[in-house]
Amino acid sequence: MIEISALGKDYSGKKVVDGLNLSVASGELFGFLGPNGAGKTTTIRILTTLTKPTSGQVLINGIDVARDPGRVKSEFGVVQQHLSLNRDLTIAENLELHARLHHISRDERNARIAELLDFVELSEHADYVIDEVSGGIKRRPMIARALIHRPKLLFLDEPTVGLDAQTRRRVWDLIRRMNSEGATVFLTTHYIEEAEALCQRVGVLHHGRLIALDSPKNLRQKLGEVAVEMHLNGNGTEYKYFLDRARASQFIQTLPSTERVVMRETNLEDVFIELTGQKVMGD
Ligand SMILES: Nc1ncnc2c1ncn2[C@@H]1O[C@H](COP(=O)(O)OP(=O)(O)OP(=O)(O)O)[C@@H](O)[C@H]1O
Ligand SMILES: [Mg+2]
Repeated sequence: MIEISALGKDYSGKKVVDGLNLSVASGELFGFLGPNGAGKTTTIRILTTLTKPTSGQVLINGIDVARDPGRVKSEFGVVQQHLSLNRDLTIAENLELHARLHHISRDERNARIAELLDFVELSEHADYVIDEVSGGIKRRPMIARALIHRPKLLFLDEPTVGLDAQTRRRVWDLIRRMNSEGATVFLTTHYIEEAEALCQRVGVLHHGRLIALDSPKNLRQKLGEVAVEMHLNGNGTEYKYFLDRARASQFIQTLPSTERVVMRETNLEDVFIELTGQKVMGD
């Protein structure tokens, strides 16, 4: 569905996307994980024709994005990182406007808007003006809008940023449902648990480069599935990873008894720290 070859983007001589090669298969739920400034939005903008790459090529469903931007737009829907709804219009009017842009006939428009509002559980909010609804609700009409022309591919840039835990889970369920109904989903996130909970495969992006690409499970296995945290009395924490609990226990027995030690399952945050020496979300 998506073929990215040697993609590069420079801003004032700085490589923001740096030699990116990546394929996403039809039906995949793929996650692009990386810290602020890693180049996630720039990549999505290139994939959705909004930004021109400095080098490289992108094919979506076999169509060259740079050569045929008009045609490729009908292949995908996109939910941008920042709110891009018309704030003075109602939820239904925003969808209506977008359906017209896609030249969807009037009868078809009404049917689809009703169906999509139901899908994102906003039927009762159809006549609410965007400016008057809570931040938690605003993401859902954006998703409905991106689906109005029934694309088989959906780009979601930080779909749950700023949402509370409960709303985030609703959006996760929505994304899973779209994927199980056949849509290919390409999302970006800097939430480790989001990538872990949702994505079949994760690409880890750091300074514009793909530094790891695999399923969350394989990424954890490569590092070792059991993590040992050693808390060094006010001098930070050291981590070691082991294939199994037996080996981890053996190691713990060699430590001085004064050391505070925690044994737990390895997670994607550990993978990220090991690969980059940094946390995904700076704290
Ligand atoms: N139009 C632009 N002009 C100049 N620099 C830009 C532009 N857009 C992005 N950048 C820079 O490119 C780098 C990558 O930005 P990008 O928005 O792609 O990162 P991101 O991974 O989406 O980050 P975030 O998690 O904060 O959304 C940043 O250093 C950013 O300042
Ligand atoms: Mg971004």
